[in-house]
Amino acid sequence: MKACYPGTFDPLTNGHMDIIERAASIADELIVAIMVNPDKRVLFSVSERIDMIKEAVQHLPNVAVVASEGLTVDLCRRLGANVLIRGIRAVMDYEYELQQSTANMMLDDTIESIFLVATPELSFISSSVVKNLVMSGGDAEKFVPNPVNRQLKEKIHGNHSGI
Ligand code: COA
Repeated sequence: MKACYPGTFDPLTNGHMDIIERAASIADELIVAIMVNPDKRVLFSVSERIDMIKEAVQHLPNVAVVASEGLTVDLCRRLGANVLIRGIRAVMDYEYELQQSTANMMLDDTIESIFLVATPELSFISSSVVKNLVMSGGDAEKFVPNPVNRQLKEKIHGNHSGI
């Protein structure tokens, strides 16, 4: 099974890592896809996000990282992936994911969406929570992989532009 895990990952959190590690254990190949939404204001550039994720997943030999614009199902077709992975943390995620996966199904019914329920202790984490925490002077070490924590500190406290 070749699977694709799409998201914005601005930045990658331990919640995303939970999904990546578990998906990598059931898929032969997992592609983490940074989907670029030009309307979304992000803290990290695409290349910064690619580098951080690559470093965080280097212990997982069957995981690759790509970035793309456009529709996720089009990317899956180009990659030859027939499964879309998404994580569900709470009912709020379910409603959004239901909408997204139904749209994806209408666009291409050969691509199946599989949902992994978040590990409970990670279910409160989001990229915004992590960014807010660091902007308010906190340390995100418990919530993000080390390469991400390093870059967050650098971006937010070392360089005040681009926030
Ligand atoms: N652990 C931690 N955080 C999680 C999480 C998890 N398991 N699952 C979701 N999140 C958080 C993210 O941190 C992010 O937090 P934020 O809102 O504070 O930034 C938020 O949930 C959004 O998650 P993300 O997984 O990055 O999804 P997204 O909504 O940004 O992107 C796409 C969803 C990219 C998959 C979707 O928009 C897409 O496919 N876009 C391409 C266009 C397309 O094909 N659309 C579908 C058909 S119309």
